[in-house]
Amino acid sequence: MAPIGTAPRQRSALQLTVLISGTGSNLRAILAAIDAGTCDATVRAVVSDRANAQGLSLASERSIPTAIVKLSDYENRSTWDAALAHTVASFDPDLVVLAGFMKIVGEHMLAAFEGRILNVHPALLPAFPGNDAPAQAIAANVRISGCTVHVVDGGVDTGPIVAQAAVRVLANDDAESLHARIQHAEHTLFPAVIHGIARGAIKLGARVSAASGTPSDERAVLLSPAVAPPNDKVP
Ligand code: GRF
Repeated sequence: MAPIGTAPRQRSALQLTVLISGTGSNLRAILAAIDAGTCDATVRAVVSDRANAQGLSLASERSIPTAIVKLSDYENRSTWDAALAHTVASFDPDLVVLAGFMKIVGEHMLAAFEGRILNVHPALLPAFPGNDAPAQAIAANVRISGCTVHVVDGGVDTGPIVAQAAVRVLANDDAESLHARIQHAEHTLFPAVIHGIARGAIKLGARVSAASGTPSDERAVLLSPAVAPPNDKVP
């Protein structure tokens, strides 16, 4: 398959396989943006590591194929990861979207979809990687946090940053209220990034870059310098 954004695609919209573990609010936001015509993509399949992930019902309502690949059904993480890669590959995605997928993907996934796995994290990376990022932000008493869309590599939330949105931390925030506000930003940023990739305006790689002349997406509070075109004014 041709690298994303570097060659004319044979298919009309970017084909996504979305991986979820929980409520699927990001999946819902991506589907809503596709419906609204602001995200040139198709959710080809939804895969979960949990049979009871609430977000699976969103897929079922739309007759989007689903698959469950539970860690406990496999001997170890590596065999689970191989099965996950095999399952995801069966849907032939252009892009693999981790939308609240709570497991670290392993070498099989990374080899099968190198540079084509995106994750959304509820903090301004590299600050607060790993679990409980909003709680980490509250504990650190930061005044600004946010969300990051990044390419997945072999580390925990360490891959190349594609885009970020900033969110104010309010004096009376706890981890839950901050996370809710961050998720609101995720719901705008994630579909916007997917759309940018679909249009070839964002090219994924070791250093994420933006095609020149790309208009910035004003719905995002901030875009990372890697995404903003050189002459774009970041406030
Ligand atoms: C999001 O906040 C995302 O940043 C994190 O997991 C959460 C998933 O939420 N990785 P949802 O399942 O999309 O509602």
